[in-house]
Amino acid sequence: MQGIESLMFLLRGVELKKELFSSLNKYILRKREGKGAFMAESIKKVSIREIKPDMVLARDVVTASGTVLLAKNTMLNNVNYTKLLSSGIGFIFVNSSSIDERVENFTEKERAKASLEQQRIPIVKRPEFKEFQQAVDEKTEEAKKCIYAISDGENVDLHHMFKITDDIMSTLRCKNDIFTFIGFIKENDEHTFHHCVNVSLLCNLFGRWLGVDSSELVDLTTSGMLHDIGKTKIPPEILNKKGKLTDEEFAVMKKHPVLGYRILQDQNIPEAIKLGALMHHEKIDGSGYPMGAKGDRIGKIAKILAICDIYDAMTANRVYRDKICPFEVIKMFETKVYGELDTHYLLIFLQNIAYTYIGRWVRLNSGVEAEVVFINAAQLSRPLVRTLSEEFIDLTVKKDLSIDSLL
Ligand SMILES: [Fe+2]
Repeated sequence: MQGIESLMFLLRGVELKKELFSSLNKYILRKREGKGAFMAESIKKVSIREIKPDMVLARDVVTASGTVLLAKNTMLNNVNYTKLLSSGIGFIFVNSSSIDERVENFTEKERAKASLEQQRIPIVKRPEFKEFQQAVDEKTEEAKKCIYAISDGENVDLHHMFKITDDIMSTLRCKNDIFTFIGFIKENDEHTFHHCVNVSLLCNLFGRWLGVDSSELVDLTTSGMLHDIGKTKIPPEILNKKGKLTDEEFAVMKKHPVLGYRILQDQNIPEAIKLGALMHHEKIDGSGYPMGAKGDRIGKIAKILAICDIYDAMTANRVYRDKICPFEVIKMFETKVYGELDTHYLLIFLQNIAYTYIGRWVRLNSGVEAEVVFINAAQLSRPLVRTLSEEFIDLTVKKDLSIDSLL
C-alpha cells in the first residue's frame, strides 16, 4: 500500500510539473508577443499567504489524508478563510476572475519585488514572530511545571496540556509559519522543555494536515508534550551537557523512553500516548531503542513523534550549532533517515514542509537570490526557482546549485 501511495505521489508531481511548464511556455510566448505578465486564463495558483475573502475556489481543497476541506466553486468568506489559514495547506487554486483587479494588474516582476522586500525584514523583527516568541516563553514555563508535576505523580490533564500548545498556535495567522519560526526561537538553558513544546506544535500541525478529529488532535498534541517526560529522571549533568555524550552517558540517556512509560503507565490517558513516550525512538527497520521494534509494531503516534522529534533536533536553534535551512533538512530526511521512518507519514511531512516554502525567497550557494515557484515531487529539496531577472532555475537539473538559506 505504501509503495502505491508513493507512486501516486510521484505521478501527481509529474502531472503538476507538466502543468507548470505549460504555464511557463505560455508566459514566455506572451512576453515575446509584448503582452506583459502571464495570468492563467481561468485558474491561478495562490500561496496561502496571499488568499483573500471573496476569492472563488477553482479546485477542491484536499488535505494530505485525502479529505475534501472545501469544495470547488466555494467563495472564501471570513469563516472558511480562517479554516483554510489554520489547515496548514500551502496553496490553493482560485478562479482568476475572482482576484482583485489591483492584484491582477501587478506584473509578476512587481509582485516578486514586493514579496522580496517584505521578506527582507529579518524574521526575528517581524511583529508576528515577536508575539509567537512571547507566547513560547510563557507557555514553555507552564509546560515545564506541568511535566514536572506529572513526573511527581500528579494526574495528566489532557485538555490543559493541549491548550498550552493551542494558545501558541493561535498567535499564528498562517499555521505553516511554525516551520520557519521554531528555527528562530531564542531558548533559555532548558532545552528539554523547549523541545517538548516544539514537538507538540509540530504534532499539532501534522494532525491538521492529516485531518484527524478533535479528540485525536488532542492526543497527538499532548503526546508531543509528554514524549520526553522520562528525561525528568535523567541526571541534569547528563541531560544538560553541552557537547557529545560519552558511551556511558548515552546509555543512561537511552533509558528515558522506559522511564517515561513508567511515569505514565498508571495515568488515565489513552494507551497510544503512553506508547508514544515508550516508542518514539523506535525505527521501522528495527534499529531503534529501547526494544528494536519493527514496522507496524510501532503505532501511528510513535511514528509521527519520531519524525517531529528528528525534525526539531535538526532545525532548532542550538547554542553549539547554527540552525539548518529547511531544504537541507528535507534532503537529510530523503537521504540519511529514509528507511528508518514510516514512508507514508514521512512523505506527507516532507511534502507539506516543501509546499510551505512556495513563494519564499531563498539564497542559493552561488549567492543569487531567488523565489521558490514549484516543488519537484521526486526531489522535494530541489525546487524550481525564479530570480528577480526572471531566470528560471530547475535545481533538479542544475546539480551544482543548492539552497543555502531562507531570506
Ligand atoms: Fe526522546
